[in-house]
Amino acid sequence: MAIRSPVINVMANAALKAARGLVRDFGEVEQLQVSIKGPGEFVSTADTLETSEYVIERLNEYSLAHLLLMGAMADLSGGPLSDLQGDGMFKHFRPRYRGTIIANVGMTRERGNQLIADGLVDLVAFAEMFIANPDLPQRFAALAPIRRSDRALHYTPGPHGYIDYPPYEPDAQTDGGT
Ligand SMILES: Cc1cc2nc3c(=O)[nH]c(=O)nc-3n(C[C@H](O)[C@H](O)[C@H](O)COP(=O)(O)O)c2cc1C
Repeated sequence: MAIRSPVINVMANAALKAARGLVRDFGEVEQLQVSIKGPGEFVSTADTLETSEYVIERLNEYSLAHLLLMGAMADLSGGPLSDLQGDGMFKHFRPRYRGTIIANVGMTRERGNQLIADGLVDLVAFAEMFIANPDLPQRFAALAPIRRSDRALHYTPGPHGYIDYPPYEPDAQTDGGT
């Protein structure tokens, strides 16, 4: 068995203890979001992957509704986690987790369909795209253009830029997207 630092053991055990409590109280774990971050700016090290593998493999012991697996959000090339770039995250963890995996981060209709067709994940989650496209499923079904949200309005108070994007109307929109 690999030797982990005391801090990693404490973090992993805290996540697993939370899972046990949720199973006890609700019969299953519906949501458990685990992210590995250090103080200040997080920089991945050679230990990061092993820690993630340990926690995710242990989560097989719990009846999780799903594992929301986030793809790389930073440029990992040249570092110890470079194999996890792009779809590498899903290729790496699919054989290690037996339950439902939902892929997130930078998904598009095409990429999501491909990941599911390749058997790498079961479902795909979209976040930012929903802001400017409140009717996203209908747009995907109609192969309609995808509008980009105004990032300058993210994390600002008030409804503007969050709930005032109009639904898709054919011929009324020209801006394309992903
Ligand atoms: C405006 C905005 C607010 C977000 N707030 C949260 C949050 O409160 N908690 C969280 O876990 N993720 C939050 N996220 C991250 C998203 O849930 C998602 O993981 C991330 O945007 C990557 O998915 P995407 O590429 O489909 O947007 C937020 C994202 C955006 C754009």
